[in-house]
Amino acid sequence: MNKLIIATTVLIAGLVSCNLSKKSVDTTAEVEFTCDDKITYTSTVKGIFDARCTGCHSGSKPAYGIDLTTYESASSVVDKRLTCVIGWEDNCNKMPPSGGQLSAVERQQIQCWIDNGKKL
Ligand code: HEC
Repeated sequence: MNKLIIATTVLIAGLVSCNLSKKSVDTTAEVEFTCDDKITYTSTVKGIFDARCTGCHSGSKPAYGIDLTTYESASSVVDKRLTCVIGWEDNCNKMPPSGGQLSAVERQQIQCWIDNGKKL
């Protein structure tokens, strides 16, 4: 009888924790994001690049010859390449290569910036 109670408890605990983890994944996917003119290089994109990219993409020998420290150089990266690398898509290098992928919101902000014509 005791064994049955323990087994039931373990089963319920398992179901509950499974449900909880599923919920938290759903919440992440539903993060709200508004793409508007406020998303500019200066307001948003520079901060992301500085935090996650310029450790390698700066200096006299930036990785792959791509300097992401100024508006001029960062906005000259081909749109499709930028989308591809931050999306960790198959036919390009996954950027940043360390420290994990950019968050969904950060990626949407960069994509929004591209779609709105890469405003300064
Ligand atoms: C740890 C160093 C490092 C960081 C951080 C980093 N990169 Fe790179 N990046 C590289 C290297 C090295 C290459 C050359 C390709 C390779 O060897 O993987 C590269 C290549 C690229 C390319 C061209 C490659 C292609 O497939 O088109 C782009 C675009 C790029 N990085 C963008 C970014 C962006 C955007 C970030 C930040 C979100 C970033 N990188 C962060 C090291 C880095």
